Amino acid sequence: MRHLLGIAGWRRDELEALLDRAQEHLPGGPEASHVLRGKVVANLFFEDSTRTRSSFEVAARRLGADVLNWSHAGSSVSKGETLLDTARNIEAMGPAVIVIRHRSSGAPHLVARHVKCAVVNAGDGAHEHPSQALLDAFTLRQRWGRLDGRTVLIVGDVLHSRVARSNLVCLKALGARVVLCAPPTLLPPGLEEMGGEVTHHLDAVLPQADAVMCLRLQTERMSEAFLPSQREYSRLFGLTPARVERMKADAPVLHPGPINRGVELSPVVADGPRSVILEQVANGVAVRRAILEVCAS
Ligand code: CP
Repeated sequence: MRHLLGIAGWRRDELEALLDRAQEHLPGGPEASHVLRGKVVANLFFEDSTRTRSSFEVAARRLGADVLNWSHAGSSVSKGETLLDTARNIEAMGPAVIVIRHRSSGAPHLVARHVKCAVVNAGDGAHEHPSQALLDAFTLRQRWGRLDGRTVLIVGDVLHSRVARSNLVCLKALGARVVLCAPPTLLPPGLEEMGGEVTHHLDAVLPQADAVMCLRLQTERMSEAFLPSQREYSRLFGLTPARVERMKADAPVLHPGPINRGVELSPVVADGPRSVILEQVANGVAVRRAILEVCAS
């Protein structure tokens, strides 16, 4: 049994072994694994999700597991039940793995200290979203083979992005160069200490990128006073067809979703030939199968 609370703490060889295993879970792969037959995977989503929850559910079912889908809406959280009481009560139903998303950074770590089963972080506050980073790395590895020496440019609301943080750690561990581009108000401190390079000038850095990952402007996590003008933000940091022209000819465009169309990403680019956004989603099922296997075994 192993938790996946963040990318930090996983060695390069462990990350690569997990991505290699995910490769075998792609459609048409060598074997149908039902290693979780008779086991339960519990999805505890204290925050909304389309991709992550569905993807873990499909992954768990493909491995033969029963899936317990819990969400805060309609639960006894409305009666004041705490995170730990909720987790312990779900644990009493016998899951092999609890997959948890929570608005507070560190919530999965707290749960992991109080339950006996494996815990997978499906996104905690602005901290980490390790399964997203792994599926992003997997998608890039499919194109390049190895990430060594490649430059991945992450553009957007880095401050509020657990995707950016997990990707920075994961991509660096796999040998890539990571450049983060955002307005100064949307960059947290400490990125350089984590191995990232920081810039505020998108047009200058775009030609260097082997891949561009756009991030959503997370307005729901910003107070009114600090909300940037979406028009201004889009003008300076939005990925438009004109900006795609500045990119390397074969550089793909990634986005973890959900997209603010016309803000961080032009619809023409989101749906265009450079976009691998739906490949990311498809790969997510294979990667999450590998995660559940590793964590439950
Ligand atoms: N990428 C991602 O976490 O999407 P959801 O919020 O829909 O799960």
